[in-house]
Amino acid sequence: MLKISLLFLVYFFGCVRGFNSRIAGGENANITSYPFLTALLTNQGSGAFVQKCGGSILTSTAILSAASCFYTDGELNNAAWWRARVGSNNANTGGTIYIINRITPHEDFSTATRVNDVAVLRTNLLISFQPNLVAPARIVGTGYTYRDNEEVWAVGWGVTSAAGIVAPSQQLQVALVRLINQQTCTNRHNEPLSGFTVTNTMICAGFLDVGVQGQCEGDVGSPLLDSSGAVIGVFSYAHDCADIYFPDINTRVASFTNWIIDAARAT
Ligand SMILES: *[C@@H]1O[C@H](CO)[C@@H](O)[C@H](O)[C@H]1NC(C)=O
Repeated sequence: MLKISLLFLVYFFGCVRGFNSRIAGGENANITSYPFLTALLTNQGSGAFVQKCGGSILTSTAILSAASCFYTDGELNNAAWWRARVGSNNANTGGTIYIINRITPHEDFSTATRVNDVAVLRTNLLISFQPNLVAPARIVGTGYTYRDNEEVWAVGWGVTSAAGIVAPSQQLQVALVRLINQQTCTNRHNEPLSGFTVTNTMICAGFLDVGVQGQCEGDVGSPLLDSSGAVIGVFSYAHDCADIYFPDINTRVASFTNWIIDAARAT
């Protein structure tokens, strides 16, 4: 996550040029503001569990995330390789850990194209809700309208620097970003340097041509929130965390509302 407040001011005062946007750091957030957020941990089959993705609590047994988190070399992970930490500001300490006993990726998810990059995890025990600390998320309905330039918030424990190789954040981060016009995003990602196909079940976010990105490695599966705090996106893919040109790709939650509810309720 990138600290945007300073850059945001710079942006509005029209003097972006010469400013090194690649040194942006993270803005600390408090889990009490995002009590539905979970750090998803994996050991990939053996050893210690380490945070790798994020998710949003849907019900006392269901967590929304991105399907792409749960594939290794094209194979769906064993559910036992994953755990969810709830109610903690930190990726790898605190809160309560729940064992995952089922991973339901979208049936038509493709690791190659990232279409339908959505999954629902189920916990073996009931997640214990605690006021302002552990609580279910609200997800938007099928009729939600995604507006160009809409201010949205990305949260997660991903890498905090656009400069590239830095450790993911231990402290929860938040970044203000904006929704980006679908055609603009599609056209840019169509260029050979990216070569990523943006579909109408994806939504793009970032700061176009400013070089500030909200979502980085380690944030996959974490939510993109509207101003009411509802989940409108699930982070799926970024061409390059520092990229000024290619927006971040999120799964468009309104395209999957019914699928998500069904997967969360399935017995
Ligand atoms: C988060 O907010 C709670 C409640 O206001 C507070 O007790 C706690 O110290 C905060 N934690 C951090 C890391 O800011």
